[in-house]
Amino acid sequence: MNPTGYPELDALLPRLAAIAGLDPVSLEAERIAILGRKQGVLTHALRALPTLTPEDRRRFGSEANRLKTEFEAAFAARESELRRGGTTAPAADLTMPGRGRWIGAFHPVTRVVDEIVAMFREMGFAVATGPEAETEWYNFGALNFPPDHPALDLHDTLYLADGREAGAGPGGPPSAGPPVRQSAGPPDQGRLLLRTHTSPVQIRVMQAGPPPYRVVIPGMVYRNDPWDASHAPAFAQIEGLAVDEGIGFVDLKATLTRFARRFFSPETRVRFRPSYFPFTEPSAELDVECQICRGRGCSACKQTGWMELLGCGMVHPRVLENCGVDSERYTGWAFGMGPGRTAQQRYDIPDIRLEYGGDMRFLRQLAGQDPL
Ligand code: PHE
Repeated sequence: MNPTGYPELDALLPRLAAIAGLDPVSLEAERIAILGRKQGVLTHALRALPTLTPEDRRRFGSEANRLKTEFEAAFAARESELRRGGTTAPAADLTMPGRGRWIGAFHPVTRVVDEIVAMFREMGFAVATGPEAETEWYNFGALNFPPDHPALDLHDTLYLADGREAGAGPGGPPSAGPPVRQSAGPPDQGRLLLRTHTSPVQIRVMQAGPPPYRVVIPGMVYRNDPWDASHAPAFAQIEGLAVDEGIGFVDLKATLTRFARRFFSPETRVRFRPSYFPFTEPSAELDVECQICRGRGCSACKQTGWMELLGCGMVHPRVLENCGVDSERYTGWAFGMGPGRTAQQRYDIPDIRLEYGGDMRFLRQLAGQDPL
């Protein structure tokens, strides 16, 4: 199109010429920028006509209208071209740097959990899981904790509001009358809490059917702990339970020693130290030779040469009886370990917050990818 003689209109001519190369998105944006009813530059110019002298109004008006018709035609032409699969758009810029691709990987704690689970599966164990919100009875009572045990204290355990208070929470009636507090489950289940260990799943497994049981139980547990180098309020555990006729402490020792040597290395030395848990009797802690100094003593093992791996013991007869299992006929053993600790030892991770803090720069290093 020829120049109109009005600079503000002529300034639009290059844009008119460029329409033929626009992609669908910029085409629509340009149409609004030029002809839009509110912000369009041409619409604005035409709207100003009444303020001009009669002579200008006639000449400017006809030029502006001619330009508008040209724009409308150009937009329509480009649109139908694109609809037919037009190819006049500029080719993709092949010199642009590519976008980095996100590659997923397993979290180091997940890797350790999967490995441990696989090793126990080979030895005939199945996998069981249970709820993270538990009742006091499953988390403590059934496991033979006395009601005044310090672990039940608010100081150590995160209790949940039961959410059943009238008018509170989803499903509660719209506050009709005074709030009524109901207990979380059957009356003898006690308060609701976030499980402090995976041991309540032992109870659920034993309640679900008759022995024998051979299960490993991975899951998250929660404690009212600080967030520091060696504590996290939420962390992973793996529980193990084996109950059958004729199972003794030697089975516990043999299985867990075999597991530890398999997980670390065949020459790794292990030791069982006497310990105490309300739900096992006798109880022990299993230590493995420090993997960093090979037992000579270093800062990672506080110069002891040993690292704590797990707690274990023979299932207390009262726990079996609490689940309806005949403790005269059946015996068993259980263990509980923190795979986060194990991952720390294996990957030399100095601070547990790195494992549970979700910092991608750290996780990428362990996933074998370039740090950011
Ligand atoms: N539940 C215990 C803990 O969290 C560990 C454990 C499990 C000990 C099973 C013995 C047997 O510390």
